[in-house]
Amino acid sequence: MSDIRYDELIPNNVDLSSDKRLQRALEKWQPAFLDWWMQMGPEGFQGSDVYLRTAISTAPGGWANFGYVKMPEYRWGIFLSDPEKDRTIGFGDNTGKPVWQEVPGEYRNILQRIIVTQADTEPASVEQQRHLGQTAPSIGDLRNLFQVNVEEGRHLWAMVYLLHAHFGRDGRDNADELLARRSGDADKPRILDAFNQPCPDWLTFFCFTTFTDRDGKYQLAALAESGFDPLSRTCKFMLTEEAHHLSVGEQGIMRVLQRAVELEKTSPNGDVRAAGGIDIATVQKYINYWFSYSLDLFGSEISSNAADYFAAGLKGRYREAELWSDHVALEGFHALDVVRDGKSVVDQVPLRNAMNELLRAEYRKDCERVVKRWNRALEDAGSHVQVSLPDTRFFRRQGIYAGSHFDPKGNLISAAEFAAGADTWLPTESDRAYVGSLMKPVLEPGKMANWIAAPARGIDGKPVEYEYVRL
Ligand SMILES: [Fe+2]
Ligand SMILES: [Fe+2]
Repeated sequence: MSDIRYDELIPNNVDLSSDKRLQRALEKWQPAFLDWWMQMGPEGFQGSDVYLRTAISTAPGGWANFGYVKMPEYRWGIFLSDPEKDRTIGFGDNTGKPVWQEVPGEYRNILQRIIVTQADTEPASVEQQRHLGQTAPSIGDLRNLFQVNVEEGRHLWAMVYLLHAHFGRDGRDNADELLARRSGDADKPRILDAFNQPCPDWLTFFCFTTFTDRDGKYQLAALAESGFDPLSRTCKFMLTEEAHHLSVGEQGIMRVLQRAVELEKTSPNGDVRAAGGIDIATVQKYINYWFSYSLDLFGSEISSNAADYFAAGLKGRYREAELWSDHVALEGFHALDVVRDGKSVVDQVPLRNAMNELLRAEYRKDCERVVKRWNRALEDAGSHVQVSLPDTRFFRRQGIYAGSHFDPKGNLISAAEFAAGADTWLPTESDRAYVGSLMKPVLEPGKMANWIAAPARGIDGKPVEYEYVRL
């Protein structure tokens, strides 16, 4: 079951050829996807051989095959994790009933909305990253960017399959719309805000893959719990691909920090920028910006939609079975800081209405583990400076904190105090211009841009100086 058929036009492990109508519909969508890829995917390099991994099976461990591929020839396809025998719904009002193989009529609309919202982020990130190849700091980084890009394209396929297979005409229309919206476009923007933000430089890219792709990990994990079994199985396999994106971000920031410490030591007065590096304070500002934007993606802290999704058995909590014992969650409350009459107070929110917040809390813990590893690397490099996550309430544009102002420590402050501090907390125009000025391509195998340390190891056991992209 887990073997993928590559002899068909659309690689798949869902026995696509047994459903001719579905197969034909997807084969019609395929050239539209390729058009979108050529138009909105990586700028340049489409004719280059890139050392990419492709899924060959959905069995855990060893699913990837590495080899040189031209990106437009990447075998995008439909891969679901193996079905679990006698699986039942694990939470909500339908706990214990058999999972659905077909969309339950009463949940059709909200299920489609969940899938479209997730799907929209996949092409959006490819669009955001489309110019980055022009300024890659090394050929290994260039390859990692393209790996992320083709896999986000694959994630789009994963979601479009669900739309085509389970939502009829509406689903096909929605699949077409996914290729029509554009990140950052004033008239036809992507659905979520973080996916309309520009990604013009590699520091942003590494923050995006650390924080925004990690939101994806938590959304997918919550959907992997779903009682709609095809969605669950799709998300489970997407998660195995997502892990790489997260490590690209984490390793990227780590290397920027390591290089900052090196340059601080060798530069007169310890001025990292004078030595052409990115100082730790600037990295901290980018962390503040992207962590906050990514927190917004979880939705409002108090949400009746989230309660409905949970009640229906469509979207669960992170690792629902392992981390929770009461899967119905009709009793119990979640303590939440809210602002009332200009003061910070604690409210008790019914558990089901706090589902977004619970997922966000798991996400935050995960981000804290990443920051800990960055700080260990900083310490090992001999730095006394550390980086940190801002408070969850800092610089939020969605949810219950959006109307108030907080400093990075989470203190409630006035709009004037926020305005006075903003330049020290968030990237300024001149920070962005400085980071932008460093972005020059370094594409000779083994060479690195001056502002980033070499990675500790190469990719797929190959040396760092391997020719990961043949130009
Ligand atoms: Fe993705
Ligand atoms: Fe991703």
